[in-house]
Amino acid sequence: MQMVPVYPKDSPAVLDGNAVADASFVYVAPMHGITERAWRNAMAAHFRMPDAAVAPFIATFAGERVKPRLLEDVSPVNEQRIPLVPQALGKDPDELRVLLRAFKTLGYARADLNAGCPWPMVAKKGRGAGLPRNPDVFRRMLETGCNEMPGGFSVKVRLGYDAPDQLAALMPVLNEFPLCEVTIHARTAKQMYAGAVDLEAFAGTAALCRHPVVYNGDLFTLEDYRRLRARFPGVSRWMVGRGLLRDPFLQEDLAAGCRVPRDAARLAAFLDTYLDATLARHGAPAPVLGRMKELWSYLCFSFARPERLWKTIRLCRTLDEYRRVVADALGQFPREGGRPRWPYRGDCDA
Ligand SMILES: Cc1cc2nc3c(=O)[nH]c(=O)nc-3n(C[C@H](O)[C@H](O)[C@H](O)COP(=O)(O)O)c2cc1C
Repeated sequence: MQMVPVYPKDSPAVLDGNAVADASFVYVAPMHGITERAWRNAMAAHFRMPDAAVAPFIATFAGERVKPRLLEDVSPVNEQRIPLVPQALGKDPDELRVLLRAFKTLGYARADLNAGCPWPMVAKKGRGAGLPRNPDVFRRMLETGCNEMPGGFSVKVRLGYDAPDQLAALMPVLNEFPLCEVTIHARTAKQMYAGAVDLEAFAGTAALCRHPVVYNGDLFTLEDYRRLRARFPGVSRWMVGRGLLRDPFLQEDLAAGCRVPRDAARLAAFLDTYLDATLARHGAPAPVLGRMKELWSYLCFSFARPERLWKTIRLCRTLDEYRRVVADALGQFPREGGRPRWPYRGDCDA
């Protein structure tokens, strides 16, 4: 079945920030090179997925002609099994306009701006997390986005570049525009993906934002979700990235409110589907093996000895070798007693 990839225009959960006070809405985080179509569709074929996904960024480019290959990941011509929000990365308002128009031509009424990517190659050039460092350019990007996607433009940011109070200081700029959402990854760009999320700074910053806020950062378990929801009762939108890669059953726990039984056969079927789709996309075994390894650098945390398993998978040189190691690992899934190392409260069937 082919689902409509356009973000539902009339979904109150997206466009009307106040309409979702009770309900929770969960996004798949954009993760370049990982949460692409092959992974999204394979996940949707075997697991319950979050409500929607923000697709990994597409960089803006000079010129008016949009190469179809650039849009392949979000194109409705290709099967999309989960509602999508395409994301743009750039610093030039004219270039942004061209890309947003291409999204609109594909049927999208929603798009997101990446203003949080911390990689030096990106941020040092004033894109991603470097964009808010130049408030004038940032303002023009937000203005262009809101004009092109009325009611459907959002931005994904961090608490700051090198200090967690910088986004708070910039909030008047974000509040000038009719953004439909602001996703805040509760870290600074300098932290990259390590170190603790700063919940105190998130609380202070979110309180200054007049737009619906999406919480992002280290939501790995049902326990995290419960804790975060209790701590931020005003937040009803959540974004999960590495948590879902580590544990593909995560959204099922979040939806059920208890730990659902883990099932090795479903995990195996997902891995097969993902491998086949990646092979179909990339053809050659080498990039496919690379993709599988990248996924396993997260997924190994669902297994009893993550570091050991990751080391074994990392050393695989062929797909056959990889398949053998994975079949062996799946024989030991789920980890002893089916329970994670982290604290949790109750199995669904307990
Ligand atoms: C490998 C990788 C790729 C990422 N790609 C993107 C991206 O394309 N766009 C974006 O806004 N954030 C990107 N992120 C950041 C994630 O969307 C998310 O903010 C981050 O992983 C924190 O959330 P988590 O703790 O739930 O994983 C990426 C992160 C990683 C680790």
